[in-house]
Amino acid sequence: HRILCVVGARPNFMKMAPIMAAFDALPGIEAKLVHTGQHYDVAMNHQYFQALGIPDPDINLEVGSGSHAQQTAEVMRRFEPALDDVAPSAVLVVGDVNSTIACALVAAKKGVPVIHVEAGLRSFDRAMPEEINRVLTDQLSDLLFTTEESGRANLLNEGIADGRIHFVGNVMIDTLRLNLPRAVPAAQIAADAGRPGFADKGFAVLTLHRPSNVDDAAILKRLLETAGKISERMPVIFPVHPRTRATIERFGLSHLLDRASILLLPPMGYLEMLGLMKDATVVLTDSGGIQEETTALGTPCITLRHNTERPITVDEGTNTIAGNDPAAILAAFEGVSGGGGKAGRVPHFWDGRAAERIAAIVAAWLQNR
Ligand code: UD1
Repeated sequence: HRILCVVGARPNFMKMAPIMAAFDALPGIEAKLVHTGQHYDVAMNHQYFQALGIPDPDINLEVGSGSHAQQTAEVMRRFEPALDDVAPSAVLVVGDVNSTIACALVAAKKGVPVIHVEAGLRSFDRAMPEEINRVLTDQLSDLLFTTEESGRANLLNEGIADGRIHFVGNVMIDTLRLNLPRAVPAAQIAADAGRPGFADKGFAVLTLHRPSNVDDAAILKRLLETAGKISERMPVIFPVHPRTRATIERFGLSHLLDRASILLLPPMGYLEMLGLMKDATVVLTDSGGIQEETTALGTPCITLRHNTERPITVDEGTNTIAGNDPAAILAAFEGVSGGGGKAGRVPHFWDGRAAERIAAIVAAWLQNR
């Protein structure tokens, strides 16, 4: 049996690495990898592939950026002939990016079964493009793997049959546990950036890329001003996503970051980001994955959104939802900076073996078809 696995954007890569490895270890399953090219910068791509030991993609679609419609359509158009060529028993997609929904839709219409890893997460906020991708991908999927138990209830509510849903844990945490010994220490990252000592006495990490935060000038300004206030209490390391770099320049906000206690970095490789999260006193982020990674690491996280599709990171983990209001963010920061951060525990099945469970279930499912 051939399985065609799809990656497109940075948060897909670390999820796919353990899945490819688990399929590789099973006789009778051949996993092929297609990269849609949604992310194309070296910083967003090759650093990840190399660090994670992901095999080079068998197929590159090179779609690049565009509006949602353009990007999704272009992935669909280019994925169809690739799917015909490979003629797999199933297509496996991960996460919630535009490449996920695009390839799931093409496969489903061709009668090729769809497997969705990280199914059932819901923010209940349809203003988020990823929420639309999540809901629709799950509707198209034959086999749905969840990272936390909230996923099953969400899927059942949307009419998805219980027998298709499998709670297996979190493949991103498989990757995290495997690579933790190789994480690049924050002190080294600061030194390499020409600021030795910057990270030695506690620091905050900031990441921002969600359109609702960075594409609105007033909100972005407010968030960067808040980062400035935090930097008066603790050094801030800010790896800047390409989307965010572009809007900071477009809105003329660069001066807000021009402070000795803010260290701007390009997008980090996986092992660098892992080291920053591990060594940080606190992480402020609007990423989905980072909420989970900080929970797995036990590092306090302040989420700069009004909701989360990953409620277990709040219920059991180290995550606090603060939104984009400066007073709420600063209050949450005061809560953790004095050492009073949420202790949290690591959720069930975030144990490094999620991909093995997925491969075993997929193999049995293929046998019975
Ligand atoms: C995408 C995902 C988001 C994920 C994020 C992680 C969707 C809808 N969004 O958002 O869920 O959290 O990736 O990074 O799929 N750009 C570059 N180089 C690149 C890629 C993008 O410069 O390699 C710039 C381009 O100007 C582009 C912008 O970033 O227009 C946005 O890229 P895009 O892939 O559309 O969405 P992300 O914001 O990265």
